[in-house]
Amino acid sequence: MRTRSSVGAVEAFHGLNGRRRAVRQFDGSSVPDQLLRAIVAEAQLAPSSRNSQPYRFICARSTKRLAAIAPLCNDQSAARSAGALVVLAVGRRFARETLDAWDLHLATDCDLSDRSIAYHRAELRTSRWFLSIGSWPIWSLLLALFRALQPATGLLPVGSAGIHHWTSRNAIFAAQTFLLAACAYGIDTCPMEGFNAVGLRRALGLPRDVLIPLVIAVGRAARDARTEPRWRKPIEDALVLL
Ligand SMILES: Cc1cc2nc3c(=O)[nH]c(=O)nc-3n(C[C@H](O)[C@H](O)[C@H](O)COP(=O)(O)O)c2cc1C
Repeated sequence: MRTRSSVGAVEAFHGLNGRRRAVRQFDGSSVPDQLLRAIVAEAQLAPSSRNSQPYRFICARSTKRLAAIAPLCNDQSAARSAGALVVLAVGRRFARETLDAWDLHLATDCDLSDRSIAYHRAELRTSRWFLSIGSWPIWSLLLALFRALQPATGLLPVGSAGIHHWTSRNAIFAAQTFLLAACAYGIDTCPMEGFNAVGLRRALGLPRDVLIPLVIAVGRAARDARTEPRWRKPIEDALVLL
């Protein structure tokens, strides 16, 4: 059987994955822009539904921005001491932008075969259709009804709440990739859900329909930061083999 894994790759991944910690105390040093670019470029390789990439990583790095944003992250110590605060912003508008940019790429500067281009164009049409009918207001009512009858339908990607779940779900894959990529570059992170979403949205001048599923504090761990491995529940409680 052909396998693409190798002992080296597994060891490298295990080392990286095991080394990543949620760090709450940074040394306050700044994070160079080229590092943020490199980390976000890796995060963009994360999978997303229909390759929609419905997110933006908004990186606050200046002292002024950090001072404005840290208190909106509940003044958590990770936010106060970070060298950069990365606000993950999601929205259907970003998915639409992705589709437009992808369309343009297919029309102008891609070297795919005609057959592949036709395939991707068809995919794009379906994605646009999904984004369009998925936002019909009637879905919100139907979804509330479905959810009451069958809670398992609660994550359907339609209606306003459904699209919010969908964009956030997609962005979280990129966020986790961001954490691992940062770790590979020797940069520490802390994912945070403790923040004032309305205050942050206003401080960043984001439109009302943009949501913030996560803020990531980024920097270099302070010398006295707690970085011990964190307990995980036994694998028997996480893995179900059928
Ligand atoms: C969605 C999410 C939200 C989190 N929010 C916070 C937070 O607001 N503040 C914080 O200090 N840590 C936060 N964390 C970090 C977790 O507490 C941490 O990942 C967990 O304790 C396991 O530790 P480890 O990441 O070092 O393995 C969050 C993690 C996730 C995935």
